[in-house]
Amino acid sequence: MRVLVLGGGGREHALCWSIARSPSLETLWCAPGNAGIAQVAACVDLDPESAEAVVGFCEREAVDLLVVGPEAPLAAGVSDAARTAGIAVFGPSQAAAMLEISKAFSKEICIASGAPTAAYGVFDTPDAAKAHLEQHGAPIVVKADGLAAGKGVIVAETTQEALDAIDSIFDGPGGGRVVIEEMLVGEEASFFVLTDGKTALALAGAQDHKRAYDGDTGPNTGGMGAYSPAPAFTREIEQATMDTIVAPVLLEMRARGTPYTGVLYIGLMLTVEGPKVIEFNARFGDPECQCILPRLKSDLLPILLACANGTLEDQSLDWKSDACLTIVMAAQGYPGSYARGDEISGLDEAASDPDVLIFHAGTKAQEGTILSNGGRVLGITASGQDVAAARKRAYEAAGAIRWETGFCRSDIGWRAL
Ligand code: AMP
Ligand code: GLY
Repeated sequence: MRVLVLGGGGREHALCWSIARSPSLETLWCAPGNAGIAQVAACVDLDPESAEAVVGFCEREAVDLLVVGPEAPLAAGVSDAARTAGIAVFGPSQAAAMLEISKAFSKEICIASGAPTAAYGVFDTPDAAKAHLEQHGAPIVVKADGLAAGKGVIVAETTQEALDAIDSIFDGPGGGRVVIEEMLVGEEASFFVLTDGKTALALAGAQDHKRAYDGDTGPNTGGMGAYSPAPAFTREIEQATMDTIVAPVLLEMRARGTPYTGVLYIGLMLTVEGPKVIEFNARFGDPECQCILPRLKSDLLPILLACANGTLEDQSLDWKSDACLTIVMAAQGYPGSYARGDEISGLDEAASDPDVLIFHAGTKAQEGTILSNGGRVLGITASGQDVAAARKRAYEAAGAIRWETGFCRSDIGWRAL
């Protein structure tokens, strides 16, 4: 098969690494890719958010399957344009990706399908939002309705924080609409399913660390590390999530004429009343993807194709019993401003352990050296018989990497130990 992957982060490196192992792969491209992805795929310099550029490439190169990594190309309508051109696409339509693109829409689907989630209200003016706040008080959660690059959610401990959050959202990029939610209490977990719109196959559960610094302190990030399986996400909770959330939500999306296909990311709060939806994403979580895919025994590529073709019913997933843990190395200053172009060495030494994989999230190669080229730069992933063993290996590998201005948390996986 001839496959094009869109994206250039750690998630896409893990996807490309996994696809590259498939016996049915003929050629793999990734747009735009990065220095690590270039080791397993041909990187293509095209704009993944341009439907014209992506469809043009797929037609010229006779691509059999387009795999969309991040959400931005979905929001830009790239998956729809490719499907219209007759290309098989792993990734939802723009209409189905609304589950991630609009928080108000995702809440509406939860209510319509009966999937448990936090009580909420949607407000189009600051005054209406503030009136609701006056009634409910803090703690409370204030969210921008639209995509806000991870900056659109404020868990407000005080009424003042909530008021400031409302003002900043109406002034910001997430659209002139806020969702205000009841604060849920419990442990968080990420869960992923692959689906063709009818059948859903459960991927493993994982937990990530969203805060920048040790002890889960500091600013929110895209994720500083993750591990799978997550001991808190038990078989019973997985079954409850499939029955009370995944099945009814997929049914509701189908009934509306916008079936959801691809990977559905369910951000969960494991409350005393059972798992509740915090959010949906229309893509794999990153770094969660980096510690889930190495645990998969099955050939990923035919399964991605089955999601695109509506034949997932005939597929199943086989897992290794090993646990896997990923440590993100980020550029100093991330998630704020940071420098690019700093030299990184020791990568071969770090990857010399056969149980270690180094996924690149933001790198570029220049005359044989690897340079940092993003906020999150590397995902040091290791497997082991349990999370503790995986963690030990991952930190040993991270210790071999020489990058003066990089940092990582020293406590990834603490909840599982
Ligand atoms: P999101 O961008 O929707 O993943 O939200 C970012 C983070 O905010 C989540 O990972 C949670 O830690 C927190 N959060 C969002 N919604 C709620 C809620 N209703 N109750 C408690 N925490 C929440
Ligand atoms: N790690 C969280 C996310 O991908 O959104």
